Amino acid sequence: MTGTNDQVNQQFRRPLVLGVETSCDETAAAIVSADKKILAHRVLSQIDDHAEFGGVVPEIAARQHISHLDHLLKGLMDDAALGFDDLDAIAATTGPGLVGGLMVGVMTAKAIARAAGKPFVAVNHLEGHALTARLVADIEFPFLLLLVSGGHCQILSVRGVGDYERLGSTIDDAAGEAFDKTAKLLGLAYPGGPSVEKEAGKGDPARFKLPKPMVGKPGCDFSFSGLKTAVRRLAEDCVAKRGMLYEDDRADICAAFQMTIGACFKDRLRHAVALFRADVGAGDFPLVVAGGVAANAYLRGEIEALAASEGLSFHAPPLSLCTDNGAMIAWAGLERFRVNPGLDDRDVSARPRWPLDERAAPIVGSGKKGAKA
Ligand code: KG4
Ligand code: ZN
Repeated sequence: MTGTNDQVNQQFRRPLVLGVETSCDETAAAIVSADKKILAHRVLSQIDDHAEFGGVVPEIAARQHISHLDHLLKGLMDDAALGFDDLDAIAATTGPGLVGGLMVGVMTAKAIARAAGKPFVAVNHLEGHALTARLVADIEFPFLLLLVSGGHCQILSVRGVGDYERLGSTIDDAAGEAFDKTAKLLGLAYPGGPSVEKEAGKGDPARFKLPKPMVGKPGCDFSFSGLKTAVRRLAEDCVAKRGMLYEDDRADICAAFQMTIGACFKDRLRHAVALFRADVGAGDFPLVVAGGVAANAYLRGEIEALAASEGLSFHAPPLSLCTDNGAMIAWAGLERFRVNPGLDDRDVSARPRWPLDERAAPIVGSGKKGAKA
């Protein structure tokens, strides 16, 4: 069943946008409306396909997106009781991400847009994470954003749709990557974030001391690769003392690791708040955390405490909208389309690298392609 345009106009505020996400290991799509309704929402995780490799295998990811995306979109349109004709625009993650998966999503979305005579909106995956909080709460620009996921770790001043200033970024690993690598070296299941959080909940964060990279240094940049090495040494010490890594050792290491990440986030954010205040003036402004690592309850609590101590309002998307999903892409596409209704990105191709703040110098990676992190 599909709705007629008249019925759809009466039920929802336009624009009505379909968003497709295939940049990593989730095949996802959603339809959202301007009045912040998620009309339908489907996510197919590939966790089981990558688990035995301890990380995402790009070729497997691309193949799975090809196998599942058409069927997922058919189910999504059925769930919403809508046809492609009812939509105002078709959005897809166009970068950054794994290029094979990006191409699957972009080509599918462009084909739908072409067949239905609708515009195609190219969405930066990071902008999807950045704007998700505005889908679930009335957050005005400008706001300060900590964007922490498997591939990215940045603090951004979000001034408007498409208008970002990067205040800080990781100089090596992303925060989610640090969780994933820590989990792998401690023999915990992939993806590492949820596994480490679960173990940390059973551990004593005070038993081990880990270095807190960048803490106390000026600026807002992060570094996590040294932390990963310190975790490995700690685990090796435990094995040397007791013959193997016991569960209590592992839980205590995870607790120390998670606490250390929290301390790094808070220290860097404190500097960012000061910079942001100098830019936008004193007073309350929203502090937003987004991306897969924002699903971590302990870290959310730590950032919320920092926001309270700085007199700021705190916002984090619900857990299902922290990790990759279609609604964040549909919403970012909607926001872009709303400020520029003449938009049609049909000539834009998949981009593995695509920094949100194109003016900022790459910290990792180089040249025109932009920063990895
Ligand atoms: O945003 P996301 O789904 O994909 C990227 O854009 O990278 O983030 C995935 C990352 C993974 O590194 C995963 O381990 C991490 O988010 N993550 C978590 C938690 N849930 C997911 N990290 C810490 N604690 C969690 N509960
Ligand atoms: Zn993501």
